[in-house]
Amino acid sequence: MFVAVRTLLISGASRGIGRAIAERALADGHRLSLGLRDLVALQGTVLDPAVAGSDRVLLHPYVAEDTAAAQAWVAATTAHFGGFDGLIHSAGVFSRVGLLFEPGEEQDIANTMEVNLMGPWWLTRAAWPQLAAHGEGRIQVLVSMSGKRSKGKLAAYTASKFALLGLCQTMRNEGWELGIRVTAICPGWVNTDMAAAVRSGPSSRWPTQAMAAEDMTQPEDIASLCSELLCLPNRAVPFELAVNCSLER
Ligand SMILES: NC(=O)c1ccc[n+]([C@@H]2O[C@H](COP(=O)([O-])OP(=O)(O)OC[C@H]3O[C@@H](n4cnc5c(N)ncnc54)[C@H](OP(=O)(O)O)[C@@H]3O)[C@@H](O)[C@H]2O)c1
Repeated sequence: MFVAVRTLLISGASRGIGRAIAERALADGHRLSLGLRDLVALQGTVLDPAVAGSDRVLLHPYVAEDTAAAQAWVAATTAHFGGFDGLIHSAGVFSRVGLLFEPGEEQDIANTMEVNLMGPWWLTRAAWPQLAAHGEGRIQVLVSMSGKRSKGKLAAYTASKFALLGLCQTMRNEGWELGIRVTAICPGWVNTDMAAAVRSGPSSRWPTQAMAAEDMTQPEDIASLCSELLCLPNRAVPFELAVNCSLER
């Protein structure tokens, strides 16, 4: 299959799903600009510019709740690569905070909204002119099944992801005539640090069933989907992908 080489901004590439997406995208031949909280997180890996080559990979500081960070990352990427045509949002946080939150937990709710909703919003806003200029821009957003249904009692996380899915629908609407295609990726469990942390914590706020790590969707599975999505023409890009590793009805 012919793969057009793209230049992709990817958040959350230090670990988990974002890292798997970045590694696959690099192997596919794309150029990467990775926004990271810790620039040494990828030192010595295939995603290190010293290993991959600075013509293939750029690392730049990115903190989702820093409203200036998105603009600075976009500007640095444009200066380095001359532009970009794809944006993949994988940075995100989990929250256990429930509906009847305790005093003091409201800060956790605000932080979850800042990172999971406002982070992608600021970054999309900053990236929009470049994506629109290309004519076939792509945005992929790691939402969650928690953006489509509320299964447990995870009010903060679920609210942030429902809001994010709403934002994705609006991105799709606003981007359509500009040739920007948006995909909201909605997995259940994916075998990462986040899933491990959730499942090892107190289980009073969500229904747990024992699931071996190998039975969860793997980060590489999501990376394969993202890779395929980038090969599709504007007429065929799905808006939403629900990715289940267990039956949901
Ligand atoms: N794992 C699942 O079961 C699952 C299911 C559905 C959806 N998702 C979603 O998929 C995305 C990726 O999840 P994951 O499982 O890969 O999580 P993860 O392993 O916990 O990795 C989270 C990533 O987000 C980055 N990040 C967190 N807070 C940030 C901030 N304030 N600013 C910038 N970067 C930040 C982390 O960077 P650091 O290394 O600096 O912390 C890390 O790269 C998230 O949006 C998550 O909600 C996950």
